[in-house]
Amino acid sequence: MINYFFKTYGCQANVADSQGLARFLDELGCKEVQTEADADLAIVNTCAVRDKAEQKLFSYLGELAEHKKSRQYMKIGVIGCVASYKKKEIYQRFDLVNFVYGAREEYDSLKAYLMDSVVNLETTKQMYMTNPDANVKSGGQDRDVKKVVQFKKLLSTPRFVSLGLNRLRQDGVYPESSPRDGQEKAEKKVIDKPGAQKPQELNRSYVNIMTGCNKACAYCIVPFTRGGEVSYPMAQILDRVAHDIANGAKEITLIGQNVNSYIDPETGYKFPELMRRVAAIDGQFWVRWISPHPQDMTRELFEVIAQYRDKLPGYVHFPVQSGSDRILTLMKRNYTAAQYLEQIGWIHELLPDATISTDIIVGFPGETEEDYLATRELMEKVKYDLVYSFIYSPRKYTGAANMEDTSSYQDKQKWLEALQDRQKEICFERNLRNIGKTFTCLVEKRVAHDKLLARTEGNVRVHFQGPDEMIGTFVKVRIEETGPVNMIGVLV
Ligand code: 5AD
Ligand code: SF4
Repeated sequence: MINYFFKTYGCQANVADSQGLARFLDELGCKEVQTEADADLAIVNTCAVRDKAEQKLFSYLGELAEHKKSRQYMKIGVIGCVASYKKKEIYQRFDLVNFVYGAREEYDSLKAYLMDSVVNLETTKQMYMTNPDANVKSGGQDRDVKKVVQFKKLLSTPRFVSLGLNRLRQDGVYPESSPRDGQEKAEKKVIDKPGAQKPQELNRSYVNIMTGCNKACAYCIVPFTRGGEVSYPMAQILDRVAHDIANGAKEITLIGQNVNSYIDPETGYKFPELMRRVAAIDGQFWVRWISPHPQDMTRELFEVIAQYRDKLPGYVHFPVQSGSDRILTLMKRNYTAAQYLEQIGWIHELLPDATISTDIIVGFPGETEEDYLATRELMEKVKYDLVYSFIYSPRKYTGAANMEDTSSYQDKQKWLEALQDRQKEICFERNLRNIGKTFTCLVEKRVAHDKLLARTEGNVRVHFQGPDEMIGTFVKVRIEETGPVNMIGVLV
């Protein structure tokens, strides 16, 4: 049996892609392992959004080299956004890497290639097990996966039928994902039967509803690494969600680079209709969705959420990036701070108790103290529940790559720290206001012998004492004390 290991960097779209491929490898009879040391096949899913993630990838590939030294038959693959635009560099710098497959490429050829690799690995692993000193090698670099696939005509080769590949999807575009989160499939199937063993972690499902992006935000490499927008058919998405819920998923995350520009290629229905239909699926579950763009935001979406609050939590992740109109224009975001605040007003009006989070970039080229203060002012107006904040990281091929920078990195760091410190205070104030209130929470996992971690529908972390059986269930918790990040409560 072939053991595979996934290392996933970056956004939830990558998590969904890794889940889909892991499911596919399971269908080939492979088994997921939790450490590189046990892996025959290691796949690294990469993120190119900021330079830091890219640097991490390169040092991680160095670490993998150590594992391959002792088991030379091991295969290593790099997929995702860095694979899209640094394929040549990866092949040149890392001899040990067997395949590099970009996020823009069609997944069908990668799957066909993986089928072939699994068959080869079975042979080489067997040889290695019989004689570890023989130095059985993994077969070098396959520099063009598509060509390898065409050459071997993998999709039509009968031997793959014996691997159970009759379930291989032929449509190409829809990356499958199913609830996994480190659980064995068998465990999933029995999840809701009385007396069955409960899982150790919440059963989550990440479903890509679209990929790519048609915007051109000046700092962002995604339109380049993932290409233009492609929305997946609504019927397939609904099938996937229903399937995952039937298999025990309690939290569904609908993922796209720009979820609210989703449009069903078959019917023309838009994102609010998709949300309505997902919410109409039977079962007890919560739906999360990331990330929307203010330019495509409509009141209708919040009206739908207000109508289906049992399934659609009052939580909106709504990236603003900057509070300065001058910077928003340079970023090519196509809205002003006032327009964004008007949309925040829709949330307050239609979902009065909703929590709101955002993404902010500080230190975009040309950003001055005045621009930064405009962002801080916007934060005070909105009082976000959570802010993901980043120092601008120059990315090749993007509109901002050659823009002149006026502030020093030290200034940017200072801005970021001050912004994050203030946000911590805001979170703490919000948490203090919650003391004494009771929340419905979804239990995620055990974090200490006497502590479970759950989240409110507003995505706020709650610790409480309870038995393992509560993992993956909805419980009511009354908040008794709190820190800036975690609230602490008791079961009601
Ligand atoms: N530098 C810093 N942050 C970035 N993001 C995207 N590109 C960059 C970049 N070049 C941030 C944005 C986006 C989030 C996913 O990552 O805030 O919303
Ligand atoms: Fe990047 Fe902007 Fe597209 Fe989001 S909307 S993926 S930030 S280009």
